Amino acid sequence: MGWYDADIDRVIITEEELRAKTAELAKQVAADYASVDGLLLVCVLKGAVMFMADFSRELGKVGGPPAELEFMAVSSYGQGTTSSGVVRILKDLDRDIAGKHVIVVEDIVDSGLTLSWLLKYLESRSAKSVDVVALFRKPEAIKVPVPVKYVGFDIPTEFVVGYGLDYSERYREVPYVGILKPEVYQR
Ligand code: XMP
Ligand code: MG
Repeated sequence: MGWYDADIDRVIITEEELRAKTAELAKQVAADYASVDGLLLVCVLKGAVMFMADFSRELGKVGGPPAELEFMAVSSYGQGTTSSGVVRILKDLDRDIAGKHVIVVEDIVDSGLTLSWLLKYLESRSAKSVDVVALFRKPEAIKVPVPVKYVGFDIPTEFVVGYGLDYSERYREVPYVGILKPEVYQR
């Protein structure tokens, strides 16, 4: 039992489902990029950190090209929990991405505003190609059409935590993905 189990109303995606889906996504990417000599994975902190760790290892195991791991942190200005599309870079890439095949490793695409901004930014830095792998997508919430080539799970428009996703910086270490009990928000 984890300290968090009592706070979870219901589990949406189990550890086993996360593992299987990550392997499936890695196989697709490895097949599509079989002819390139290297990939640059860009993880968007902090939510995608677990997925980045598992996806990158899986990609190597299934015969994908050598990967470089890069991390970015951005914050979307907005009222409360809705993102506005105005994005501020908190941590930029450490290296030049010009001429590289980039894959953005995202936790969740909600409105798509953050990702849409990020794709324009990466393209402006002259990446050779840019694709996106997102573990989760909330289909009803998409405000801007954003090309996400690889999607793990389509989930309902509800707030989820676990496997990197937080509520108030907590629950990131939860090994599965779930929905919190309403009382947690009243504390
Ligand atoms: P966009 O711009 O697509 O923002 O609206 C996506 C970002 O919003 C966060 N997000 C969530 N975080 N549980 C979370 O912990 C959720 O259910 C959730 N929905 C969106 C997340 O940081 C994502 O990158
Ligand atoms: Mg968050």
